[in-house]
Amino acid sequence: MTIAPTISQTTTHRREGVEEGLKKGLRNRWYVMLPSEKLTDRPVAVKALGEDLVVYRDDKGKAHTFIDFCPHRGAALSLGDVVEGQLVCGYHGVAFNGEGICTAVPAEGPDSKLLKRLKLKGFPTQERVGLVWAYIGDTDLFPPPPLEVPPELEDESWTGFICDAHWKTNWLVALDNLADPMHAPFLHGKSYTLRFGAKQDRMVLVDMPNGFRVEREKQKGVNFDWSELGDTGTLWCRLDIPYPKSAGPGGPLRIVGFITPNDENESDVYFLRYRHVQGWERRLWRTLYKTRLEARHWHVLEQDRVMMERVSLKARLNEKMGQTDIGVIRLRKMLNLEFFKQQEVYNQAARKQRQPEPEPDGEPSEAVLAGD
Ligand code: FES
Ligand SMILES: [Fe+2]
Repeated sequence: MTIAPTISQTTTHRREGVEEGLKKGLRNRWYVMLPSEKLTDRPVAVKALGEDLVVYRDDKGKAHTFIDFCPHRGAALSLGDVVEGQLVCGYHGVAFNGEGICTAVPAEGPDSKLLKRLKLKGFPTQERVGLVWAYIGDTDLFPPPPLEVPPELEDESWTGFICDAHWKTNWLVALDNLADPMHAPFLHGKSYTLRFGAKQDRMVLVDMPNGFRVEREKQKGVNFDWSELGDTGTLWCRLDIPYPKSAGPGGPLRIVGFITPNDENESDVYFLRYRHVQGWERRLWRTLYKTRLEARHWHVLEQDRVMMERVSLKARLNEKMGQTDIGVIRLRKMLNLEFFKQQEVYNQAARKQRQPEPEPDGEPSEAVLAGD
Protein backbone atom coordinates (compact mmCIF):
# COMPACT_ATOMS: atom_id res chain seq x y z
CA MET A 1 0.00 0.00 0.00
CA THR A 2 1.33 3.45 -0.82
CA ILE A 3 0.58 6.43 1.38
CA ALA A 4 0.64 9.71 -0.48
CA PRO A 5 3.74 11.60 0.60
CA THR A 6 1.94 14.91 0.20
CA ILE A 7 -0.41 13.90 2.99
CA SER A 8 1.63 11.71 5.30
CA GLN A 9 4.35 14.34 5.68
CA THR A 10 1.93 17.04 6.62
CA THR A 11 -0.35 16.07 9.43
CA THR A 12 -1.44 18.95 11.59
CA HIS A 13 1.04 21.78 11.12
CA ARG A 14 -0.72 25.08 10.60
CA ARG A 15 1.22 27.33 8.31
CA GLU A 16 0.12 30.39 6.44
CA GLY A 17 -3.39 30.02 7.77
CA VAL A 18 -4.12 26.77 5.99
CA GLU A 19 -3.34 23.12 6.60
CA GLU A 20 -0.10 22.28 4.83
CA GLY A 21 -1.63 19.21 3.22
CA LEU A 22 -4.52 21.22 1.76
CA LYS A 23 -2.35 23.74 -0.04
CA LYS A 24 -1.85 21.58 -3.12
CA GLY A 25 -5.45 20.41 -3.25
CA LEU A 26 -7.91 18.08 -1.56
CA ARG A 27 -6.94 14.60 -2.67
CA ASN A 28 -9.38 11.81 -3.46
CA ARG A 29 -11.61 13.83 -5.74
CA TRP A 30 -12.17 14.00 -9.50
CA TYR A 31 -10.41 16.93 -11.14
CA VAL A 32 -10.59 18.37 -14.63
CA MET A 33 -7.44 17.63 -16.61
CA LEU A 34 -8.31 19.59 -19.75
CA PRO A 35 -11.19 20.19 -22.16
CA SER A 36 -11.87 17.10 -24.32
CA GLU A 37 -11.32 19.04 -27.53
CA LYS A 38 -7.73 19.80 -26.48
CA LEU A 39 -6.88 16.11 -26.20
CA THR A 40 -6.19 14.98 -29.74
CA ASP A 41 -3.43 12.69 -31.02
CA ARG A 42 -0.59 13.98 -28.83
CA PRO A 43 0.09 13.38 -25.13
CA VAL A 44 -0.54 16.46 -22.99
CA ALA A 45 1.25 17.47 -19.77
CA VAL A 46 -1.04 18.50 -16.91
CA LYS A 47 -0.01 19.48 -13.42
CA ALA A 48 -2.53 18.61 -10.74
CA LEU A 49 -2.19 18.60 -6.94
CA GLY A 50 1.56 18.88 -7.26
CA GLU A 51 1.84 15.83 -9.54
CA ASP A 52 3.21 16.01 -13.07
CA LEU A 53 0.75 14.03 -15.17
CA VAL A 54 0.42 13.01 -18.79
CA VAL A 55 -2.96 12.58 -20.44
CA TYR A 56 -3.38 10.83 -23.77
CA ARG A 57 -6.14 9.44 -25.95
CA ASP A 58 -5.80 5.88 -27.29
CA ASP A 59 -6.88 4.58 -30.71
CA LYS A 60 -10.37 3.78 -29.37
CA GLY A 61 -10.76 7.39 -28.25
CA LYS A 62 -10.43 6.56 -24.55
CA ALA A 63 -8.51 9.03 -22.39
CA HIS A 64 -5.85 7.86 -19.90
CA THR A 65 -3.88 9.66 -17.18
CA PHE A 66 -0.47 8.62 -15.86
CA ILE A 67 2.38 10.10 -13.89
CA ASP A 68 4.47 11.99 -16.43
CA PHE A 69 7.56 9.96 -15.71
CA CYS A 70 8.98 7.17 -17.81
CA PRO A 71 10.10 4.37 -15.46
CA HIS A 72 13.00 3.52 -17.78
CA ARG A 73 15.15 6.61 -17.16
CA GLY A 74 12.73 9.29 -16.04
CA ALA A 75 11.93 11.21 -19.22
CA ALA A 76 8.65 13.14 -19.41
CA LEU A 77 6.19 10.97 -21.29
CA SER A 78 4.31 14.08 -22.39
CA LEU A 79 7.27 14.73 -24.74
CA GLY A 80 6.58 11.42 -26.46
CA ASP A 81 3.98 10.28 -28.97
CA VAL A 82 0.84 8.24 -29.31
CA VAL A 83 1.44 5.39 -31.77
CA GLU A 84 -1.33 2.88 -32.53
CA GLY A 85 -3.03 3.69 -29.26
CA GLN A 86 0.12 3.29 -27.16
CA LEU A 87 1.93 5.97 -25.23
CA VAL A 88 5.52 5.97 -26.52
CA CYS A 89 8.35 7.64 -24.64
CA GLY A 90 10.31 10.07 -26.79
CA TYR A 91 13.67 9.19 -25.26
CA HIS A 92 14.21 5.47 -26.14
CA GLY A 93 10.84 4.55 -27.61
CA VAL A 94 9.52 2.38 -24.77
CA ALA A 95 5.76 1.88 -25.29
CA PHE A 96 2.93 1.50 -22.76
CA ASN A 97 -0.68 0.51 -23.25
CA GLY A 98 -3.73 2.12 -21.62
CA GLU A 99 -3.25 -0.06 -18.54
CA GLY A 100 0.23 1.35 -18.08
CA ILE A 101 1.81 -2.00 -19.02
CA CYS A 102 5.02 -1.90 -21.03
CA THR A 103 4.47 -3.47 -24.45
CA ALA A 104 7.74 -2.75 -26.26
CA VAL A 105 11.37 -1.91 -25.52
CA PRO A 106 12.54 -1.37 -29.09
CA ALA A 107 16.22 -0.88 -28.23
CA GLU A 108 16.35 -4.39 -26.70
CA GLY A 109 13.70 -6.35 -28.57
CA PRO A 110 11.02 -8.80 -27.43
CA ASP A 111 13.28 -10.63 -24.94
CA SER A 112 14.09 -7.51 -22.94
CA LYS A 113 13.79 -8.05 -19.19
CA LEU A 114 12.54 -4.48 -18.93
CA LEU A 115 9.19 -5.49 -20.44
CA LYS A 116 8.11 -6.97 -17.11
CA ARG A 117 9.75 -4.36 -14.93
CA LEU A 118 8.36 -1.16 -16.39
CA LYS A 119 4.86 -0.09 -15.34
CA LEU A 120 3.18 3.29 -15.24
CA LYS A 121 1.25 4.65 -12.30
CA GLY A 122 -2.18 5.60 -13.58
CA PHE A 123 -5.26 7.45 -12.40
CA PRO A 124 -8.90 6.57 -13.18
CA THR A 125 -9.97 8.78 -16.07
CA GLN A 126 -13.30 9.61 -17.71
CA GLU A 127 -14.84 12.21 -19.99
CA ARG A 128 -17.96 14.12 -19.04
CA VAL A 129 -19.54 17.39 -20.13
CA GLY A 130 -16.78 18.08 -22.63
CA LEU A 131 -14.00 17.69 -20.06
CA VAL A 132 -11.41 15.01 -19.30
CA TRP A 133 -11.43 14.14 -15.59
CA ALA A 134 -8.97 12.14 -13.50
CA TYR A 135 -9.39 10.85 -9.98
CA ILE A 136 -6.39 12.17 -8.07
CA GLY A 137 -6.44 9.95 -5.08
CA ASP A 138 -5.21 6.90 -3.27
CA THR A 139 -7.61 4.28 -4.52
CA ASP A 140 -6.57 1.63 -1.99
CA LEU A 141 -7.83 3.80 0.87
CA PHE A 142 -10.38 5.95 -0.97
CA PRO A 143 -12.08 4.13 -3.86
CA PRO A 144 -13.20 6.65 -6.51
CA PRO A 145 -16.73 7.89 -5.84
CA PRO A 146 -19.11 8.45 -8.76
CA LEU A 147 -18.50 11.79 -10.42
CA GLU A 148 -21.67 13.85 -10.07
CA VAL A 149 -21.76 17.17 -11.87
CA PRO A 150 -24.63 19.68 -11.64
CA PRO A 151 -27.37 18.05 -13.75
CA GLU A 152 -28.02 20.99 -16.08
CA LEU A 153 -24.63 20.31 -17.67
CA GLU A 154 -26.00 17.03 -19.02
CA ASP A 155 -29.53 18.24 -19.72
CA GLU A 156 -30.32 18.68 -23.42
CA SER A 157 -32.45 21.73 -22.74
CA TRP A 158 -29.37 23.64 -21.60
CA THR A 159 -26.52 24.65 -23.84
CA GLY A 160 -23.25 26.40 -23.25
CA PHE A 161 -19.54 26.86 -23.63
CA ILE A 162 -16.43 25.93 -21.71
CA CYS A 163 -14.09 28.71 -20.66
CA ASP A 164 -10.73 27.59 -19.25
CA ALA A 165 -7.95 29.75 -17.89
CA HIS A 166 -4.74 29.52 -15.95
CA TRP A 167 -4.46 31.60 -12.77
CA LYS A 168 -1.26 32.16 -10.83
CA THR A 169 -2.96 31.82 -7.50
CA ASN A 170 -3.62 29.11 -4.97
CA TRP A 171 -6.78 27.08 -5.61
CA LEU A 172 -8.17 27.94 -2.16
CA VAL A 173 -7.96 31.64 -2.96
CA ALA A 174 -9.76 31.05 -6.27
CA LEU A 175 -12.44 29.00 -4.52
CA ASP A 176 -12.96 31.62 -1.79
CA ASN A 177 -13.84 34.08 -4.53
CA LEU A 178 -16.67 31.85 -5.70
CA ALA A 179 -18.21 31.68 -2.23
CA ASP A 180 -18.27 35.45 -2.03
CA PRO A 181 -21.12 37.04 -4.05
CA MET A 182 -20.56 40.44 -2.39
CA HIS A 183 -17.43 41.07 -4.45
CA ALA A 184 -19.53 41.37 -7.63
CA PRO A 185 -20.98 44.90 -7.22
CA PHE A 186 -17.51 46.21 -6.37
CA LEU A 187 -14.90 44.33 -8.41
CA HIS A 188 -17.25 44.00 -11.38
CA GLY A 189 -19.27 47.14 -10.64
CA LYS A 190 -18.65 48.70 -14.05
CA SER A 191 -19.19 45.55 -16.11
CA TYR A 192 -21.89 44.80 -18.65
CA THR A 193 -23.73 42.19 -16.56
CA LEU A 194 -22.72 42.89 -12.97
CA ARG A 195 -23.24 46.64 -12.51
CA PHE A 196 -26.80 46.41 -11.21
CA GLY A 197 -28.35 46.44 -7.73
CA ALA A 198 -27.45 47.49 -4.22
CA LYS A 199 -23.94 47.45 -2.87
CA GLN A 200 -25.01 46.63 0.70
CA ASP A 201 -26.78 43.56 2.04
CA ARG A 202 -26.56 40.75 4.55
CA MET A 203 -25.63 37.21 3.53
CA VAL A 204 -27.56 34.07 4.47
CA LEU A 205 -26.35 30.45 4.48
CA VAL A 206 -28.60 27.60 3.36
CA ASP A 207 -27.59 23.93 3.81
CA MET A 208 -27.62 21.66 0.77
CA PRO A 209 -27.27 17.85 0.74
CA ASN A 210 -23.59 17.99 -0.30
CA GLY A 211 -22.64 21.56 0.28
CA PHE A 212 -24.25 24.91 0.89
CA ARG A 213 -25.70 28.00 -0.70
CA VAL A 214 -24.75 31.52 0.26
CA GLU A 215 -27.20 34.19 -0.82
CA ARG A 216 -28.03 37.83 -0.34
CA GLU A 217 -30.81 38.45 2.16
CA LYS A 218 -32.61 41.26 0.32
CA GLN A 219 -31.48 41.32 -3.28
CA LYS A 220 -32.65 38.47 -5.52
CA GLY A 221 -32.18 37.98 -9.25
CA VAL A 222 -30.47 41.32 -9.83
CA ASN A 223 -26.76 40.53 -9.78
CA PHE A 224 -24.50 37.62 -8.77
CA ASP A 225 -26.78 37.30 -5.70
CA TRP A 226 -26.14 33.68 -4.69
CA SER A 227 -23.61 30.96 -5.05
CA GLU A 228 -23.68 27.23 -4.33
CA LEU A 229 -20.68 25.15 -3.41
CA GLY A 230 -20.97 21.39 -3.77
CA ASP A 231 -18.83 18.34 -3.08
CA THR A 232 -20.12 15.39 -5.11
CA GLY A 233 -17.02 13.43 -6.07
CA THR A 234 -15.67 16.75 -7.33
CA LEU A 235 -15.76 20.24 -5.84
CA TRP A 236 -17.92 22.64 -7.82
CA CYS A 237 -19.52 26.03 -7.69
CA ARG A 238 -22.74 27.18 -9.35
CA LEU A 239 -24.11 30.68 -9.75
CA ASP A 240 -26.43 32.72 -11.96
CA ILE A 241 -25.77 36.04 -13.63
CA PRO A 242 -28.98 37.82 -14.68
CA TYR A 243 -28.66 39.06 -18.26
CA PRO A 244 -29.71 42.55 -19.40
CA LYS A 245 -32.31 42.66 -22.22
CA SER A 246 -29.63 43.42 -24.79
CA ALA A 247 -28.16 39.94 -24.18
CA GLY A 248 -31.13 38.44 -26.03
CA PRO A 249 -34.03 36.25 -24.88
CA GLY A 250 -33.74 33.47 -22.32
CA GLY A 251 -32.99 33.19 -18.64
CA PRO A 252 -29.89 34.14 -16.71
CA LEU A 253 -26.41 32.90 -17.47
CA ARG A 254 -25.65 29.84 -15.36
CA ILE A 255 -22.00 29.39 -14.49
CA VAL A 256 -20.65 26.12 -13.10
CA GLY A 257 -17.03 26.32 -12.02
CA PHE A 258 -14.36 23.70 -11.30
CA ILE A 259 -10.82 24.39 -10.15
CA THR A 260 -7.83 22.13 -10.60
CA PRO A 261 -4.97 23.03 -8.27
CA ASN A 262 -1.67 22.70 -10.17
CA ASP A 263 0.38 23.10 -7.04
CA GLU A 264 0.35 25.51 -4.11
CA ASN A 265 0.85 28.56 -6.34
CA GLU A 266 -1.14 28.02 -9.54
CA SER A 267 -4.51 26.71 -10.65
CA ASP A 268 -6.47 25.89 -13.78
CA VAL A 269 -10.01 27.23 -13.67
CA TYR A 270 -12.90 25.91 -15.75
CA PHE A 271 -16.11 27.89 -16.05
CA LEU A 272 -18.97 26.30 -17.94
CA ARG A 273 -21.28 29.06 -19.13
CA TYR A 274 -24.72 27.65 -19.79
CA ARG A 275 -28.16 28.94 -20.59
CA HIS A 276 -31.57 27.26 -20.44
CA VAL A 277 -32.74 28.06 -23.97
CA GLN A 278 -34.22 26.03 -26.80
CA GLY A 279 -35.09 26.44 -30.49
CA TRP A 280 -34.32 29.78 -32.13
CA GLU A 281 -33.41 31.30 -28.75
CA ARG A 282 -30.74 28.68 -28.38
CA ARG A 283 -29.28 29.50 -31.78
CA LEU A 284 -29.43 33.22 -31.03
CA TRP A 285 -27.69 32.79 -27.67
CA ARG A 286 -24.92 30.73 -29.19
CA THR A 287 -24.36 33.37 -31.88
CA LEU A 288 -24.57 36.28 -29.45
CA TYR A 289 -22.14 34.56 -27.11
CA LYS A 290 -19.54 34.11 -29.80
CA THR A 291 -19.98 37.54 -31.38
CA ARG A 292 -20.50 39.81 -28.36
CA LEU A 293 -20.89 38.23 -24.96
CA GLU A 294 -17.82 36.04 -24.68
CA ALA A 295 -15.42 38.99 -24.83
CA ARG A 296 -17.40 40.76 -22.10
CA HIS A 297 -17.30 37.67 -19.85
CA TRP A 298 -13.58 37.38 -20.39
CA HIS A 299 -13.24 40.98 -19.28
CA VAL A 300 -15.05 40.17 -16.01
CA LEU A 301 -13.03 37.01 -15.46
CA GLU A 302 -9.83 38.92 -15.96
CA GLN A 303 -10.87 41.24 -13.13
CA ASP A 304 -11.15 38.17 -10.90
CA ARG A 305 -7.84 36.75 -12.08
CA VAL A 306 -5.88 39.97 -11.53
CA MET A 307 -7.36 40.40 -8.04
CA MET A 308 -6.91 36.75 -7.01
CA GLU A 309 -3.32 36.63 -8.23
CA ARG A 310 -2.49 39.31 -5.66
CA VAL A 311 -4.16 37.52 -2.72
CA SER A 312 -1.79 35.23 -0.89
CA LEU A 313 -2.64 32.38 1.43
CA LYS A 314 -0.52 34.22 3.98
CA ALA A 315 -3.22 36.90 4.10
CA ARG A 316 -5.25 34.42 6.14
CA LEU A 317 -3.03 35.08 9.12
CA ASN A 318 -4.14 38.69 9.24
CA GLU A 319 -7.59 38.84 7.70
CA LYS A 320 -10.61 40.06 9.67
CA MET A 321 -13.83 38.71 8.30
CA GLY A 322 -17.33 40.20 8.62
CA GLN A 323 -20.93 39.13 8.13
CA THR A 324 -20.69 39.25 4.34
CA ASP A 325 -17.82 36.73 4.43
CA ILE A 326 -19.89 33.89 5.87
CA GLY A 327 -19.78 31.95 2.60
CA VAL A 328 -15.99 31.94 2.69
CA ILE A 329 -15.96 30.86 6.34
CA ARG A 330 -18.36 28.02 5.61
CA LEU A 331 -16.36 26.87 2.59
CA ARG A 332 -13.16 26.71 4.60
CA LYS A 333 -14.89 24.71 7.35
CA MET A 334 -16.22 22.28 4.73
CA LEU A 335 -12.79 21.73 3.20
CA ASN A 336 -11.02 21.45 6.55
CA LEU A 337 -13.53 18.87 7.72
CA GLU A 338 -12.97 16.75 4.61
CA PHE A 339 -9.22 17.13 4.95
CA PHE A 340 -9.22 15.99 8.59
CA LYS A 341 -11.50 13.04 7.77
CA GLN A 342 -8.97 11.92 5.18
CA GLN A 343 -6.07 12.50 7.56
CA GLU A 344 -7.68 10.11 10.02
CA VAL A 345 -7.77 7.36 7.40
CA TYR A 346 -4.16 8.00 6.31
CA ASN A 347 -2.98 8.03 9.92
CA GLN A 348 -4.79 4.78 10.70
CA ALA A 349 -3.24 3.13 7.65
CA ALA A 350 0.21 4.41 8.63
CA ARG A 351 -0.24 3.07 12.21
CA LYS A 352 -1.23 -0.31 10.81
CA GLN A 353 1.88 -0.40 8.63
CA ARG A 354 4.09 0.33 11.64
CA GLN A 355 2.60 -2.41 13.83
CA PRO A 356 4.90 -5.49 14.04
CA GLU A 357 3.52 -8.79 12.83
CA PRO A 358 2.28 -10.87 15.85
CA GLU A 359 4.54 -13.78 16.82
CA PRO A 360 3.27 -17.15 15.64
CA ASP A 361 1.90 -19.24 18.57
CA GLY A 362 4.42 -21.45 20.37
CA GLU A 363 7.56 -20.01 18.79
CA PRO A 364 9.90 -18.16 21.14
CA SER A 365 11.02 -14.74 19.98
CA GLU A 366 14.63 -13.72 19.34
CA ALA A 367 14.64 -11.67 22.57
CA VAL A 368 13.68 -14.68 24.75
CA LEU A 369 16.37 -16.82 23.16
CA ALA A 370 19.01 -14.15 23.78
CA GLY A 371 18.08 -13.93 27.49
CA ASP A 372 18.29 -17.70 28.12
S1 FES B 1 13.45 7.21 -20.51
FE1 FES B 1 11.65 6.59 -21.52
S2 FES B 1 12.32 5.13 -22.92
FE2 FES B 1 14.10 5.68 -21.89
FE1 LIG C 1 -15.91 37.72 -9.80
